[in-house]
Amino acid sequence: MTTKLLSMQVPFHRADLGEDEVSAVAAVIRSGWLTMGPKTLEFERQFAAYVGASHAVAVSSCTAALHLALEAVGISRDHEVLVPTTTFTATAEVVTYLGARPVFVDIDPQTFNIDPLDLERRITPRTRAIIPVHFAGLPCDMAEILEIAARRRLHVIEDAAHALPSTYHDKKIGAISELTAFSFYATKTLTTAEGGMISTENEDYVRRLQVMRLHGIARDAWKRYSAEGSWFYEVLEAGFKYNFTDLQAALGIVQLAKCDGMNRARERVARRYSSAFRSLAALEAPPTASDRTTSWHLYVLRLHLDRLRVDRNRFIQELADRGVGTSVHFIPLHLQPAYQRNYGYRTGDFPVAEREYQRSLSLPIYPTMSEEEIDHVIWAVSDVASTFSR
Ligand SMILES: Cc1ncc(COP(=O)(O)O)c(C=O)c1O
Repeated sequence: MTTKLLSMQVPFHRADLGEDEVSAVAAVIRSGWLTMGPKTLEFERQFAAYVGASHAVAVSSCTAALHLALEAVGISRDHEVLVPTTTFTATAEVVTYLGARPVFVDIDPQTFNIDPLDLERRITPRTRAIIPVHFAGLPCDMAEILEIAARRRLHVIEDAAHALPSTYHDKKIGAISELTAFSFYATKTLTTAEGGMISTENEDYVRRLQVMRLHGIARDAWKRYSAEGSWFYEVLEAGFKYNFTDLQAALGIVQLAKCDGMNRARERVARRYSSAFRSLAALEAPPTASDRTTSWHLYVLRLHLDRLRVDRNRFIQELADRGVGTSVHFIPLHLQPAYQRNYGYRTGDFPVAEREYQRSLSLPIYPTMSEEEIDHVIWAVSDVASTFSR
């Protein structure tokens, strides 16, 4: 190994932002209209067309998107909402905003997506909705989930924070169930620094989402400071301050145009990793499936711990010592103090999620990775795996 490779540092993430984004944001600043306005509407139109949905409503985060979607379908106190335990806390926390109860579900050991069999077992007379999370970008088995939802009369709100662009049975995620929530957080596959989007086919939901994202004020409230606006407004509901801004939309429009290209670049990284790791018995590459495509938001490597003399945490430390930044997705929610204290969850409740959590780590994967950086990650992972193999 050359000294250059040994001394290299590969961060876990680096956003793909360039001069086009800088110019687009500068143009919005010069226009004098900073918050939600014409650029946001343009981004919503382009986003809906990109995923093949009739409507898209931009909001301040995916957390806000999930909250508003649950509110739109009428989730309230005493309701239960099914959520995989392997997800970010946002997916479950939004359920509690409405006074409802998040009910955790175990995951499929191959995909880390919600397990449809366990899901069906946890339905009670109080269950009203399911939030499937497309873990790492690989879509859930939506046919099975939609079939259960139709039979048990449940709403489906997809958490697609990882799934732009991903497809299931040749349809983009965002055009499949009644409401889908996306994230444009800094590390996501399309970023506006912070931001989110809800796609839907249903015009009643669109009206509700548009009112509730801006204080519950009647539609087009954002125009009240424009030339065509008026000082008069009506507050229809006690809503939320969840609107998007034109500064974010300017970033989003440039990023959306690059989305397919950025996806191909991440796919290339994933292919190089998976073919390099195939020959190492201690490593398991993430799954793919012939009926769906993934955004490759994350590349989750699994360790066969019985073939190694180190655990996952030491593996991560050894990679850090070799200059490779990693992360873990996710610590199952039922192991977190807040959900244990408030809902009585305990270690041991979801054995698949716990086992997979103990043996997984996420490697760097982003469009701006150079060939040398990809080589370096492959070298470091292979070196740790062979140094500590049994
Ligand atoms: C699965 C999942 N859902 C929701 C979110 C929340 O997204 P945001 O930060 O846009 O609110 C995240 C963020 O990391 C996530 O990973």
